[in-house]
Amino acid sequence: MNTEQRNELLYQALETELGGVQIYTTAVSCAVNEDLKKEWQEYLDQTKNHVQIVRTLFERVDLDPDTETPGRQVVRHIGESLVKAMKMAKSTGQPEAAQLVAAECVVLAETKDHLNWELIGQVTKKATGKEGKAMKEAHEQVHPEEDPHLYHNMGWTRELWIDSLGMPAVLPPPEEEKDVKTAIGAARAKQTREDMLSASR
Ligand SMILES: [Fe+2]
Ligand SMILES: [Fe+2]
Repeated sequence: MNTEQRNELLYQALETELGGVQIYTTAVSCAVNEDLKKEWQEYLDQTKNHVQIVRTLFERVDLDPDTETPGRQVVRHIGESLVKAMKMAKSTGQPEAAQLVAAECVVLAETKDHLNWELIGQVTKKATGKEGKAMKEAHEQVHPEEDPHLYHNMGWTRELWIDSLGMPAVLPPPEEEKDVKTAIGAARAKQTREDMLSASR
């Protein structure tokens, strides 16, 4: 195991969660759909909790949460850019368009968040001792929440776009209704959207 790169992954994971709090806070302010607003509020609360879980993990593996790395700065830059993009969209005074931008920004952020925790899961398979145990416990708490964060948001983004195009949309998205937790589940949910549409007609 390359310990230096493992630490880099943890610094980036902390920065991603910190950025996530800012991103969801801004996204909630862009939400028009009430169900989506509720969902983003819930994910905001979970992301705040993820920050705490990673901070506790840092204490247990003896890492300084304030250590800067070039990779971490890039993650912060992307997070700040996503917040800026949402504010830019919001300032144009088209709430539906700003909501779409926010949904896309959340998917971009959650793609990184999901990857981090998938990789932390890979590391825990090899890690041993006190550090391995700490990472495993953090992973068990966070990873189950990252699946819906990514897949449900992808579903929302697709359906909001379809709705904006003037075509029949499934809102809330099938991923939400079927409580999707895996990539395979997300693909299956997406396939059922046509059936859900004809059933509701
Ligand atoms: Fe997270
Ligand atoms: Fe997340």
